[in-house]
Amino acid sequence: MQIVTPVAAMQRLAGKWRRAGARIGLVPTMGYLHAGHLSLVQRARQAVGARGKVVVSIYVNPTQFAPTEDLARYPRDLKRDLKLCRAAGVDVVFTPGDAGMYPGRVTGGYSTYVVEEKLGRMMEGAARPAHFRGVTTVVAKLFNLVLPDVAVFGQKDFQQAAVVRRMVADLNFPVKIIVAPTLRQPDGLALSSRNKYLNPGQRGQAVILFCALQAAKKTVAKKSVSAARLKQQLQKMITAAPLARLDYLEFFDPQTLEPVSKVTPGVHMALAVYVGKTRLIDNAEL
Ligand code: PAF
Repeated sequence: MQIVTPVAAMQRLAGKWRRAGARIGLVPTMGYLHAGHLSLVQRARQAVGARGKVVVSIYVNPTQFAPTEDLARYPRDLKRDLKLCRAAGVDVVFTPGDAGMYPGRVTGGYSTYVVEEKLGRMMEGAARPAHFRGVTTVVAKLFNLVLPDVAVFGQKDFQQAAVVRRMVADLNFPVKIIVAPTLRQPDGLALSSRNKYLNPGQRGQAVILFCALQAAKKTVAKKSVSAARLKQQLQKMITAAPLARLDYLEFFDPQTLEPVSKVTPGVHMALAVYVGKTRLIDNAEL
């Protein structure tokens, strides 16, 4: 396994692979890898085959964090990440730094961003206004540097995957986007690098996101219900966990991400909940 840090070296290597006819699969991550990330690696390998190249990028992208968010304390453990990638059969771990990705950003020498204007407005986009601009910008840059045929994203970040898909379609990136299922702990908590922030009491209550999704599924399986009424019920359920505070909960059309007023099977639900100071997200088709 190779570790590549300079952006020009990554681009050269990817160009060489492409000229040799190898298919390239990219798994973009911010590191602190868990089994969910490794399932994306497996999916990438499946897509490019044994002779293809799988690249995992590890970069905590500063442009997708607001100044008040957890950029500085985002969990990092490169040594462990490299070990996991090696064991998972990754060909290259791409570990660019801020100087390579955004040269001159702090001093005003970087000024180009990619903005998706529709699917990224609501939910995560409303709660974290600069977030998707940072995500689309870094993903576009990663695509230009790694030149992937396929890129694999997790379903846990459902809206992110929708925004990236739209960017790929609108800007004609020749990249196939694969979205792989969310992996969960036995009690249902979605795997996330941010789960590391939770103390044991918070960890116990973090399952409330999954419980809310399950409760919504159960209700909708019986009958269609008003989104406002179901939201109220779930809000009550979440508030009953003393360490949990609801940020948003939406029922929406999975294609347009537009909110629906009636919740029927096939409608999607997403929510963000603070457990202590940790903000967790989850989603599911109902
Ligand atoms: O999902 C993530 O980990 C990040 O948003 C991504 C796609 C790696 C971009 O920084």
